[in-house]
Order: sequence, then structure tokens, then C-alpha cells
Amino acid sequence: MTFYVTTPIYYANSLPHLGHLYTMIVADTIARRKRQQGIETFFLTGTDEHGINIERAAQRNNRTPKEQADYVVSYFERMTSAFGLDTAHGGFDIFMRTTNPFHYEGVSELWRRLAKAKTPKGREALYKGHYEGWFCAPCAGYKTEDEYAKPANPGDPPTCLIHETKLDRVSEESYFFRLSDYDQALLELYEARSDFVRPEARRNEVISFVAGGLQDLAVSRLRSAVSWGVPVPDDPNHTMYVWFEALSNYITAIGFGNEQQERAVGFEKFWPALHLVGKDILRFHAVYWPAFLLAAGVEQPRAIVAHGMWVDPTGRKMSKTLGNTIELDVLNRFFPVDAIRYFCLREMVFGQDGRFGYENLIDRTNSDLASGLGNLSSRTLTMIQRYCDGRIPAATISDEARLAAKRAGVETDDAAIRNFLSHARDEFIRYFEALAFSKALEEAWAIVARTDKMISDAKPWELARDAGQIQTLSAVLYRAAETLRWLAVMLYPTMPSAAKEIYAGLGLKGDPGKIDPAGLQWAELTAGGGIGEVKPLFPRIEKAKTMEEIRDQKSEVGREDSGTSVGAEVSGQHATEADAVPGVATYIDITDFAKVELRVGEVRTAERIPKADKLLLITVDIGEEKPRQILAGIAQYYEPENLIGRKIVVVANLKPRKLRGYESQGMLLAASVGDEGKPVIATFAEDVPNGARLK
Ligand code: MSP
Repeated sequence: MTFYVTTPIYYANSLPHLGHLYTMIVADTIARRKRQQGIETFFLTGTDEHGINIERAAQRNNRTPKEQADYVVSYFERMTSAFGLDTAHGGFDIFMRTTNPFHYEGVSELWRRLAKAKTPKGREALYKGHYEGWFCAPCAGYKTEDEYAKPANPGDPPTCLIHETKLDRVSEESYFFRLSDYDQALLELYEARSDFVRPEARRNEVISFVAGGLQDLAVSRLRSAVSWGVPVPDDPNHTMYVWFEALSNYITAIGFGNEQQERAVGFEKFWPALHLVGKDILRFHAVYWPAFLLAAGVEQPRAIVAHGMWVDPTGRKMSKTLGNTIELDVLNRFFPVDAIRYFCLREMVFGQDGRFGYENLIDRTNSDLASGLGNLSSRTLTMIQRYCDGRIPAATISDEARLAAKRAGVETDDAAIRNFLSHARDEFIRYFEALAFSKALEEAWAIVARTDKMISDAKPWELARDAGQIQTLSAVLYRAAETLRWLAVMLYPTMPSAAKEIYAGLGLKGDPGKIDPAGLQWAELTAGGGIGEVKPLFPRIEKAKTMEEIRDQKSEVGREDSGTSVGAEVSGQHATEADAVPGVATYIDITDFAKVELRVGEVRTAERIPKADKLLLITVDIGEEKPRQILAGIAQYYEPENLIGRKIVVVANLKPRKLRGYESQGMLLAASVGDEGKPVIATFAEDVPNGARLK
């Protein structure tokens, strides 16, 4: 038996963010669960590297499209490694890139099949026509009238309702896919397979969209308009429409239409896949993709499962402009990977939108992980260390010791906990299989709570003082330890590192990633075994301090004043390159550097800002009519009066931004020194006139 799970392949025009991370975490969790069951599993993620949007991002950054893609992919590599999602950490099996030559080969084969195919109504599935209409580059999609806003000034292009950016007028020869002939076939498919599109609410949306009638789909662009893409076989003046080509990655990656991947992976072996997607791209996956596959005579996917979107704690969409995005480098720096995984799976009711804020993440980590699972594990192991010489104690209470156990209020046999545990485990699995991760984890935490209560009620610390209660004490601690073993196995797909630590803490040699929770049997933990090192699983996060540190890191002033981050902006659909994961060395060329206007300035005034203990408000003469006002995160290191008259270096063409009610019209350069990043202002040994440019 095999299993194949995919995430969308992400646009290579902008850097990865929480949304991307999330789908990967879900796919990774599913893949780990399948592997636990001994099912050979293939997990795909990757990047979608063609199309006008990538071409434009590349232009903005003075790169070739391939360089642009390589740049973004290098961040993905870092990110997936930092979050334990890459192959080395037992995560994905392929990072698919649509610039792979085997993909060109495979997708060309798919195109040729469509070119030969007849629709259910006996017409040609592909035909050449003329496309006239509007195209949104960030969506990589054609827009109908109800999908755009009319312009305020007649004559201007309309704007995309999703991106609020101007649409491109397209009027050109194009290949069309005769989607309009596939509505009945698609409806039959949804009908015959009620779990093909999930969840139910999304399935209904898709059905009503298709039932409303389908229009033919333009599946190529003229090469003169979009050159960065896969050429249409036998008609190189056309480039394949990027969605057609991107969706095909799911089959080309495993060998459809190309020998290389067929040998390495195997199309027959792994297809069909479970596609995980955000609800934003459901239509492409649940309507267009199945229609292409129908036409090409390829088996349909196993299912298309749409999850909701992450919004901020107040329910707003995350965006750069609102400043409410969750940055991966911040997540990575302040939170354990398993806490992030747990939060993502616990907090988003699968299918619905979820709220993500650093404070919520800290609260959940502290309550459910530090005080919950982590505390249960460390208190159990510490007591085994202290009261049982660091060895797993005996499980049973002999007949003679029963009375004593009863006196202590401890159940004399383990039937109750055994039954509770196996029932909770069954429920957990049932929810997990239905991808109801949040519910599954609730079940697991019911086990944590019950075990905690068992310990608190039995008070092992009191039993330890009574020689007549040795067996009672042992039984209680055994039950807690055995429950932890079950939890480690159950939680492995969600929290692989914590599960392994619990396992090692119990002194077990095996790998919880290789044990099927369905096969867990009570009392397989052997008494007498030495436990491992007792380490805190999830240290408590100090909320106020961490929030302040996060704010500091996020605050552009803080970051820019350290003088280290000069990044070219990719104003793509999601994150920008200014979000760069720190510490990645990349080269810029001279034209990149020339974009930064550095000028000599002289500090005229400097003062502290009420309630902002890091910021100074300074005005600087950079040879302009009026001095510039700049906010600098140096208040902890410089007295305002010592700055006046000082020559400094100012980034003069930085977009002004408001902070604490003040507009900052540039930034000053400073070295960042030591671990705490103490700023030391850059200055000159010689006298230089204000406004002189640094080159
Ligand atoms: N390249 C296409 C997909 C082609 S698949 C053949 C694309 N890429 S994308 O970079 O825009 O990524 C889209 C996916 O990222 C979403 O479907 C979803 O999986 C994820 N998310 C993006 N923003 C998200 C949130 N705010 N919340 C949750 N997931 C989100 O579309």
C-alpha cells in the first residue's frame, strides 16, 4: 500500500510565510501518520516558478526569472530545514520545481494527450481561438466581470477584487480547453465520490459553481507576452498557461511523461494523491485539474482537501500594510517547532479560518505544552527518578497490598485507565483520519488531564513516605509512564521531536515514528527498565518579555538602525524579500546597491519619546531645505544631548513610515555590536559637508 500527499507548489515571486508553512505542516503530519502505519508514503511540496508574476518580480529585482526562483527556493530550503520539514528531518520526499527539465517533458506529454482528446460531447478538447479579456498577474488568472472592480476613471483598467491591483488587458491568440463540455462529467464525479472535495461546505460550493455552467479556459499565452514558461508542443509561439502547467506538477513529479521520475518514484506506484490546498485555490484543483485529467484519461486524485486561511487575532486578513503578518524568522527564533506545529493543528478547526497571533501562541504553548504535556512528562519522570531509583516501577498491586491502595484512593487494578486510554486513542485516530486535527488533539489532552488528575489525587509524594504504600506508588507511576508512552506514539505525527524526547525519557530505544498507534497495547512498557535523562520538554515562555523582544525584532526601526538589513522589495502577493530569513548570504550587484541613497547628515535636535524607551526622535540636516525627522532605536545607548552636532550617515530614500505617531523619514546607519546588537553610530574622521552622497 502507498500514499501520496501534496501541498500546493508556491509562487517563487515572494518569500515563504505562515500560510505556506501551515499547509506543509499539515501535509507533513499526515505523511508521518501514514509512515507510522507502515505505509510507503510520498510527500510533495515545491515551487511554481513560471509565469508573468515571476517574470515581473525578477525584473523588479534585476534578476533573471531563474535567478529569482533560485533565490526564493534557497529561502524555502532554509525554512523547511529550520522547521524540520525537509527530507533530512523525515519530511517531504521531493521539493518539486517546475523549472525541472523532467517537468517540461511530462507536462508536454500531458498537453499532447489533451490535443488528441475528445470531450464527452465528441468535440476537440483543445482548440485555438482568440482571448479577449482581463488577466490578474498575482492570481495568474483570467477575471470575469464579477471578479473585478470597475475603474474609477473610465479608460483605466479594472482592479482585481483579491489583490486590488490593476488587471492586464489580454487580446491575443490563445489555445482553449473546452471546459464547457465537462460540467456533466464533473458533477457525476462529485456525486459518485462524496469525499472527493472536502470539507462538505467546500464541496457544495464547487458543485454549485460547476452547475452554474462552465466557460472554456484559455490555456496558453503568446510567447511574446509571456516568455517565461513551458512552450506549447509543436507551437513554440505559445507558452502554456501557468496553472495548467503548475497543476501538472503533481503527476510529472512522480513520473508521468518522463522516464527519470518514473524510475525514481513511480507514477503507477503512488498516484492518486491527496491534494491539500488553501480554499483560495480550490477551484483550480477541484474543477480545472479534474477536467484536465478527465480529458487526458488519467485517474482522478484521491481527494482535494481545502483548509481555511490564517487571519490575525482580530479576524483581519494578514497583510504587510496592516503589519499583522506572522514572520517565519520570528517564529523560528522564539518558539519550538513542535509548539508551532501543535498550535497550527490545534487552533485551526480544519476547513475554517483560524486566528494566529504571537500572544495566542505563547498562551497555548504555556498552558497546553509547558503546564500540560511537558509538566506531566517531567513530573512523572522526576518521581520515577526520585522514588523508584530511576527505573520503571512494577505495574501491579498484589492482593496483600490492595487494602493499602484503596485507603489511598487508588484503583487497585488498571482497568479504568486502560479502557479510558484505548477509547481515547480510538477517538483520536478516528478524528485524525478525518483530518479533524483539532478534535484529535483535544482527545489527547483529555488523556493528559486525566493522568494529571490521577497523580494529583494519589499524591505520590505522600505515598513515598509510607513503607506500606510502595506498590501503590509504583502502580500510579507505572500508569503515568505507560500513558506517556501511548501519548508519545499518538502525538508523534504532530510533534515529532517532543514525542521522541518523551520516548527517550522513558528509556525506550525504539522510534515512535515507526509505531502504529492503533496497535498500542496496555502494559507493554517493561518494568525495571532505566529511564533516560529528565529534561523539560517545553520551557515556559515569559509572555511580556518575549512579546517585547518580538516587537523589537519586528520593529523596522530597530531592524534598520542596526544597519544590517538592506533588501530589495518584491512587492508580490505575499511576503516581501525584506522579510528575509536572517543570516542568508546572497550577493547583490552594483545596481542594487545604487538604489540605496546614503547621505551625510548632521544631527540638529534629539529627544526622547514618552513611553518608548528605545526610540529617539532626531532631526538631521542632509543638505535639504528642511531637516529630516528620523526615529532611531538607540535611546538605550545614546544620550540625546551627546548626539547634537554629530555627523552621521542617513539612508535618504527609505519609504517614510509612521511609528508611535511620528513619521520617520529615513534611517541612520549604525553597526550592530555583540549579542544584544548594541548600536554604534557610523561617523567620519574628516569633515564632510551635509548632504554629500556615499558611494
Ligand atoms: N502557485 C499557486 C499554487 C499552484 S498549485 C499547483 C499558489 N501559490 S501561493 O504561493 O499563492 O500559495 C498558495 C497557498 O499558500 C494557499 O493555497 C495555501 O495553501 C497557502 N496560504 C497562503 N496564505 C495563507 C493563509 N493566510 N493561511 C493559510 N494558508 C495560506 O497559489
